[in-house]
Amino acid sequence: MQAVNAVIRRQLHSEVPLVNQVAEYIIGAGGKRIRPILVLLIANAHGYRGEAHHSLAAVIEFIHTATLLHDDVVDESSLRRGKPTANALFGNAASVLVGDFLYSRAFQMMVKVGDARVMQIVADATNVIAEGEVLQLLNMHNPDVTEADYLQVIRSKTAKLFEAAAQLGALIAGADEAAIEAAGEYGRSLGTSFQLIDDVLDYSGNAADIGKNVGDDLREGKTTLPLIYLMEHGNAKQQALVRSCIENGDQQHFAEILAAITESGALDYARKNAVTAGQRASAALEAMPESIYKQALLDLATFAVDRNH
Ligand code: IPE
Ligand code: IPE
Ligand code: MG
Ligand code: MG
Repeated sequence: MQAVNAVIRRQLHSEVPLVNQVAEYIIGAGGKRIRPILVLLIANAHGYRGEAHHSLAAVIEFIHTATLLHDDVVDESSLRRGKPTANALFGNAASVLVGDFLYSRAFQMMVKVGDARVMQIVADATNVIAEGEVLQLLNMHNPDVTEADYLQVIRSKTAKLFEAAAQLGALIAGADEAAIEAAGEYGRSLGTSFQLIDDVLDYSGNAADIGKNVGDDLREGKTTLPLIYLMEHGNAKQQALVRSCIENGDQQHFAEILAAITESGALDYARKNAVTAGQRASAALEAMPESIYKQALLDLATFAVDRNH
């Protein structure tokens, strides 16, 4: 990861001062770096001996960071990685444009690796993420969003990049088709589990741990799994409350909604779904030879579920 961070630092450079300032600001704030770790662990698990995995890990982190810059504008979020968001500090225009810089820098770096299959995976993932964010936009303020609709959004906006990261690790290491497919399945399931918990933490977490504001989803009228569950299993009064909160994007009733999703078992239900997805991720590693890297990948599947940040 030190080597990856060195690539990230080098590649952030631009002659335009505001690009450096905004990009340094969000990248310097840290983040868990899960997606680049995924690239390295899978490449190492398949015995990779080169250095291209460092570049590809940085490519994935740049794409992730670009989506965060754009996402915080779209979600009107004010806190990220424990600091004011770039949009809060530098404005929406700077965030969108520096997000574009990071996307395109990622593509320059990816082209340098010079493998058509790598380009295919990264280009497809980036496109699907954008679709997922747009699909979610269409679902906003709609209380009739189903669990299937929700799953489609999180698979696209989040799981797809985890899938791509995992596939790149296997591909660059020269793993066979079955191993690349298994890596993809691991990443998809891990990413699904990760976002399910992210949506739980938006209610039950605390801002100091998650580095983001709690209650953002309710404020936005975002129909995530805890609310979908409550809509189906809550009493009539709870159902009416959720419906109105989703339609109006209502943060005033956060405490009431939190009490209702806790009491109805909605948070447990979402967590249970995350556990199942995590188990699917672990199961996908079955054919992978034992190593410290495989063990770390298994630990990552547990972390995705147990995390509080
Ligand atoms: C945030 O991802 C966006 C989601 C998909 C939930 P992370 O939680 O991995 O963000 P950082 O990089 O650690 O800040
Ligand atoms: C994050 O979605 C997914 C992408 C950035 C593509 P969210 O909007 O749910 O994540 P946070 O809570 O802002 O990190
Ligand atoms: Mg967001
Ligand atoms: Mg969002």
